[in-house]
Amino acid sequence: VAQLKDHVGEFPVLGNGDIWEADDALAMMSKTGCDGVVIGRGCLGRPWLFGDLLAAFEGRPVPPLPALGEVGAVMVEHAAALAELFGSDRGVHDFRKHTGWYLTGYPVGSEMRRSFANASSVAELQSLVDRLDPDTVPVDGAARLARGHTNGPRRPVLPDRYLEDLDDATPPDAAADALVSGG
Ligand SMILES: Cc1cc2nc3c(=O)[nH]c(=O)nc-3n(C[C@H](O)[C@H](O)[C@H](O)COP(=O)(O)O)c2cc1C
Repeated sequence: VAQLKDHVGEFPVLGNGDIWEADDALAMMSKTGCDGVVIGRGCLGRPWLFGDLLAAFEGRPVPPLPALGEVGAVMVEHAAALAELFGSDRGVHDFRKHTGWYLTGYPVGSEMRRSFANASSVAELQSLVDRLDPDTVPVDGAARLARGHTNGPRRPVLPDRYLEDLDDATPPDAAADALVSGG
């Protein structure tokens, strides 16, 4: 990232990779000179990370990680928003993967995790949230616990015959995008 920033000078460069806490963003920016950061895995199940970043950038203290009551309220809000956007079935089904990320670092037990991951309505999610102890705080280091891909770097894939003519500006066909998408 530092080399790229050196190379492109005035052009803004956004750094990326292993930003789990607000301090990681400040450290990357001061170490590399980049102008901002982009976050992938660090915000999975942790939307408050953006508020933490704002605090850090403005020189305010970064709030502690939320207790389970706040996490549960945000889960229900998130699931309800997806249900509104995609309809209840698809929205709640899509939300299931987020439940594991939201609960990462909170000692709730595997049975509770399984129930969340199988919920089929916002009402069911709400009733599960109601069974959580709202005062439960996360374990030490919870922010840095792995989420998202955990099996290390993956082999990059270039579109077919890409290297044969690097000056050819023709965009690859749509299928090439599917090959490299991590989403
Ligand atoms: C849910 C998710 C979806 C992603 N989708 C893509 C993608 O479609 N294309 C891509 O180039 N990278 C994708 N990435 C990779 C991120 O852009 C980022 O480079 C990578 O996660 C490293 O940053 P991180 O340490 O903050 O996670 C995705 C990452 C996550 C967590």
